[in-house]
Formats: sequence, C-alpha cells, structure tokens
Amino acid sequence: MNSPVMQGLNLETPAFVKNARLIAWVADMVALCKPDQVYWCDGSKEEYDRLCQQLVDKGTFTKLNPAKRPGSFLANSDPSDVARVEDRTFICSHKKDDAGPTNNWVDPKEMRATLQPLFDGCMRGRTMYVVPFSMGPLGSNIAHVGVELSDSAYVAVNMRLMTRMGKAVYDVLGVNGEFVPCVHTIGAPLQPGETDQTSWPCNKTKYIVHYPETREIWSFGSGYGGNALLGKKCFALRIASNMGRDQGWLAEHMLILGVTNPEGRKYHVAAAFPSACGKTNFAMMIPPKGFEGWKVTTIGDDIAWIKPNADGRLYAINPEAGYFGVAPGTNYKTNPNCMASLKQDVIYTNVALTDDGDVWWEGMDGEPPAHAIDWQGKDWTPQLAKETGAKAAHPNARFTVAATNNPALDPAWDDPAGVAIDAFIFGGRRSTTVPLVTEANDWVEGVYMAATMGSETTAAIMGQQGVVRRDPFAMLPFTGYNMSDYFQHWLNLGKKLEASGAKLPKIFTTNWFRKGEDGKIVWPGYGENMRVLKWMIDRLEGKVRGDRHAFGISPSYQELNWEGLPFTKAQFDQVIDIDLPAWEKELQLHHELFQQLAHHLPSELKETKAKIEQRLAA
Ligand code: GTP
Ligand code: SPV
Ligand code: MN
Repeated sequence: MNSPVMQGLNLETPAFVKNARLIAWVADMVALCKPDQVYWCDGSKEEYDRLCQQLVDKGTFTKLNPAKRPGSFLANSDPSDVARVEDRTFICSHKKDDAGPTNNWVDPKEMRATLQPLFDGCMRGRTMYVVPFSMGPLGSNIAHVGVELSDSAYVAVNMRLMTRMGKAVYDVLGVNGEFVPCVHTIGAPLQPGETDQTSWPCNKTKYIVHYPETREIWSFGSGYGGNALLGKKCFALRIASNMGRDQGWLAEHMLILGVTNPEGRKYHVAAAFPSACGKTNFAMMIPPKGFEGWKVTTIGDDIAWIKPNADGRLYAINPEAGYFGVAPGTNYKTNPNCMASLKQDVIYTNVALTDDGDVWWEGMDGEPPAHAIDWQGKDWTPQLAKETGAKAAHPNARFTVAATNNPALDPAWDDPAGVAIDAFIFGGRRSTTVPLVTEANDWVEGVYMAATMGSETTAAIMGQQGVVRRDPFAMLPFTGYNMSDYFQHWLNLGKKLEASGAKLPKIFTTNWFRKGEDGKIVWPGYGENMRVLKWMIDRLEGKVRGDRHAFGISPSYQELNWEGLPFTKAQFDQVIDIDLPAWEKELQLHHELFQQLAHHLPSELKETKAKIEQRLAA
C-alpha cells in the first residue's frame, strides 16, 4: 500500500489499486488541485446510492417520486452550463497542422501554462473522485481504460451508468496497464468555511483540452454532459480518433443497430447523424405496421469503435454502457423503447418536475401538466408557455440510463468481438436540398458524401441553432486531428479492405428533416424510418434496383413498402427530389469546405467532386 502524507490529507490508496503510474498521477493531481479529500470509486451499487443521497442532501439532485420513477433523480444545471462548448474545446497537438483547420488549436506548452494556475487549488473544499472506467467490454482487446479525476459527484454517478466503472477496472489495469488520464474540475473551489450558493457550481471560464500526443484530457469549468463525462466525446472520439489513426481503426459518432428481416437474416448498420439528429431514436426503432417479422436491436446509440478483422470485415463495438440521450421529443409514439428504458433508475438533467414528483418535457405523451417546476426552478404552466414561449425542459435536456434498461438491447451489445458492419449511413438535418436517402456508387463516393455533409445546428451545442454548417461524418466537433487526414484514413481503410478481397459495407446518406412550403417536416420519421432501412437491406440483398442520379442511387416510390402509412407519390417527390439550383449552391459549399481543408485534402475527393459536377451538368 502506498500512502504519501500531504498537508494532513489522507492519501492512502486502497489495496485494490496497484497501478504504479495511476498512484503517482493521483498524488501529483492531488498536489495540484488540492482537494479536501480523495475518494476512490469502487463502482458498487451501495456507493452509487450513497453518492446520489449526498447529491440530494446538497440540493443538486431531487429524488423523484418512487411510485412514479423508482430509483430516479432530477438535476438542474446552471443556465450557463447546458450543452457542449465547442468554442472552448481545444486540440493541443505539437503542430498546428496536426489539429487542422477545423479544430481550435493552442500550442501545448502555452495551454499547460494557461491551465496550471486554473487547476492549482481548483478542488479546494471539495472531494476528488477517482473514477476508473473501461470504454468497451472489460478486458476486451478493443476496449481501452480511462481514469477520470473529478470534483463532481454528479460526474461520478453518471459515469457509473455510462461506462463500465469500478473496481474490476483496477484488476484490468494491474500493476502497469495503460490508461488515459482525464482530469475534470467544475472550477469552483471553496475557501475555508465557504459553502456553495448554488446547487450547480461551475465556472464562467471553460476549457475542454486534449493533448493527442500524450493522450491526456483536461476539462475545466463545466459540469455538463460531454464537457464533463470525459469517457464520451473527449476520450471515445477525440482521443480515440487519434489512437485509431495510428493503429488502423475508426472511432466514430455512430449508433450501431442490428436489423433482422422476416427471413431471419441479420445485418448490422452503423449510422452517423450529428448531435440531436436522431441516433438514439434510430437505434431503438420499432418497425411499424406493415413490417411484421422485422426486428431492430440496439448495440449503441452514440459512439462506435470499428476495427478491421482478419476476415476482411469491419467489427464494431459500443465503447459506452449507457445512454446520455435527448429528452424533448421523446414519447411512446416516437420512441417507445426509449420510454420503457426511462421508467426507473434514471438521472434526468434539465427536464421539468411535475407536482406529483415525476418528470415532464416538451413532446412527452398526453396533456402537459397544469403546473410544473421548469428546468430553472421556476413555475411553469401551459398558459405561461403560450404567452411567453417558456420551455418547461431545456431543449438539450437529457437522461442518463444504463443500456441494460433498454428492452431492445442486442444480445451482442457487450460482446468483446463486436458485430460485423454491413452498411454505413450518414444523415444530416436539412430543411432543403438533400434527398431522403441515397446510396453512394462506391466507397470513395460514400466518403465524399460523408465528408461534405451539412447539418443545421441544434441545442446540443452552445451557440446559434438552425444554422447549416458542414459537419463531415458528423465528426466536426469530435475528430481529434486534421480533418483531411481523417478523410484519408477512411479512404485508406477502403483500399485496404478492397485489396483483401473483402466486400465493403455500402454507404448511404439520409435526411429525415426536409420541410415543405408550410415549414413542416414532410417525412414522418422515427419508426417510419424503417421503410428506408428496409430499402437499404433490400439493396444489400439485391432485391431492388433504385433510380440512378447524379449522386448515386435513390429508391423509386414503388420500392418502399407503404403499408400502414398514407404517404403519396407527391409527398415522396418532395423528400426525394433533386433541385438543381439548390445543388449548385450546395456544391459551392463543398467547394468552400475543400478550400478550407485544401492543405492535405485527398485528391480522390476533388476528383469525385468533379465527377459529380459533370453528371449534374449532363
Ligand atoms: P445526441 O445524443 O446529441 O448525439 O443526439 P441523437 O443523434 O441521438 O438524437 P436523438 O435520437 O436523441 O434525437 C434528437 C431530436 O431529434 C429529438 O428531439 C428527437 O425527437 C428528434 N428526432 C429523432 N429522430 C427523428 C426523425 O426521424 N424525425 C424527426 N422529425 N425528428 C427526429
Ligand atoms: C452530443 O452532443 O453529440 C451528445 C451529448 O451526445 S454530449 O454528451 O453532451 O456530448
Ligand atoms: Mn452524440
């Protein structure tokens, strides 16, 4: 046992922690952050319950009515701390060019100098939680371990639901196993005798910092979501994308689902939609009427780690073990499996509290409550909402829940080997221009479509909403290195698979969000997306031909199964149409992206653009 004594602080390391580097690093971070206490999480239910009770006692959590939502809590964050902060997110590689033009870059030396005084004493008056977690099944050769040091008990309990967190991780680490060090602070130290004046202390100044070469994460000032639960975007995407580039695999912002057709053949699909653009919904979809015998099962709802296997196929695992999903818009009609997952043992953040101790959000089933306490702790009524537009729940309100709550969980979700991917989907949120579904002609054209994808911004990000921006591969905020090099990595992987004689996954793009002249979304979406998914599977099986156009192949009206859905040919034309003037403008935006990324941009992508332009002009 190792027990350095420091300023009277008991730094005794529990017997189950044997990793020398971890012990030394924690001692260093204690010296820097100066917490009052260090607590080594064991991941037990008893510990979870105890920390939740502490959060209730501090006012951060409200315990929900056990008759309505057993084992569940509500947290309301500070109104300034409700989403990811992309403009405060940094990739600090040695060379600016390695971060590339789409990332905020600061020289690592300079960033360390900036962070040093911020982290010095940042945990005064608080407890440092040592949170060991595995991204991916424990001990799997695809999985990687991280350890997060955080002064937020909210983070510790969320990490228990979102990852494989606890004592067993120390066993995997052993004496000299590797881990990604993640330091997180809300940045709100307390002076002696001082107590919190708010139930969500945080700091106006925020830094979400990644050092890709040394694989470190440092997060300052926020307690919310991807800013603070560092296994998710920071590790499983920004750091892991660097690991994947170096080691020949992919870390992607993708759901993974299994889909079985009535003949009993099962396929696996990975789909990248930007934040708040439908991954959780698609991953949990229940096939509608007219799709008897079809089944969809969830492997993951947000992140996929994908590795080529000796058999020439790509195998995907979900590195996470829970869902941090968008609440507004979720109901028994849009996502019944999700609603079933949310019955118990859930942490809600920024939804409304009803008078009977339950939760509510915009778009939940049934009548809105006559009265509720909104996410900012104020009275809310439907009348008030009508008059002032006040939202009961924040548009980026979320739930945290273990994957095991999901009734549609795939039996292989925890399989260390992963599942073999048959198709990739890339789908933006676009009111105009982009058709409901298109199959790319080949891998390179698929990479082009993914690379040039645009999407309207959502409440998942601090800043203006509804602005179309390029979001390559739905990875704009998550690729931890040069975006052009990332495109090249995808192209190289395709070439490698092709050379091995493997059948490459098909690549599709989708857009569920095209609007009519009335400003309403035309496609019914949600479970009805099954109609599009079935067409994709039919394409994999060679059952349908589709219509070829300038960008690839889209279904004819007759090729979709319309049983149970009144959707006319005229409506279908509205969502599948290619509007030439709109596409001319769109290609101008592709051009601008390529200019921004010109430095390393793969020549294949420029050639593909020229090819598409020729086909459009023909
Ligand atoms: P992140 O967790 O931020 O990565 O989001 P996500 O991609 O998992 O998105 P999610 O499934 O949570 O959906 C986000 C919002 O879009 C919710 O309000 C949904 O109700 C809505 N949404 C999801 N799928 C569809 C769809 O097919 N059509 C329409 N119109 N809205 C959808
Ligand atoms: C996203 O923004 O894509 C999310 C939510 O999945 S967060 O964990 O906050 O990044
Ligand atoms: Mn996401």
